[in-house]
Amino acid sequence: MAVERTFSIVKPDAVAKNVIGEIYSRFERAGLKIIASKMMHMSQEKAEGFYAEHKERPFFGALVEFMTSGPVMVQVLEGENAIKANREIMGATNPAEALRGTLRADYAVTVDENAVHGSDAPESAAREIAYFFSEDELCPRTR
Ligand code: PPS
Repeated sequence: MAVERTFSIVKPDAVAKNVIGEIYSRFERAGLKIIASKMMHMSQEKAEGFYAEHKERPFFGALVEFMTSGPVMVQVLEGENAIKANREIMGATNPAEALRGTLRADYAVTVDENAVHGSDAPESAAREIAYFFSEDELCPRTR
């Protein structure tokens, strides 16, 4: 399996719970390397653009309001099969359906505020990484 990159967000609820380090540890323990990372407070425009594919869904307004309600951590993870690996670490979108030991089972309560985001396919990963990071902000490991 080739080395892959994926995009990840620690959402405002998880930042407020003060579990950024816990979440980063899960990535590292699974063999994923953090090759870019920053804290930011998303503007409404930035969040609306990021979730544009959900524009027509009933939860869109609440989702944008939540994602702009406080700071987030955005990061790029690199590793073998990184997209699938990260989604396994995260668990199901709805925490009620998330397997024990996943981030959403441990840190999320509702589908509206579910602790983390992770890209779902190579195309979305590339688009999402480029939406938040310039090429010179990525630091691939040489060792
Ligand atoms: S789903 O359930 O398959 O439609 O989910 P998905 O298309 O993968 O992602 C939906 C994103 O919107 C967030 N969100 C909600 N989803 C479903 N229902 C409700 N009420 C809802 N509220 C917010 C959900 O967390 C997904 O966000 P990301 O950041 O992509 O994980």
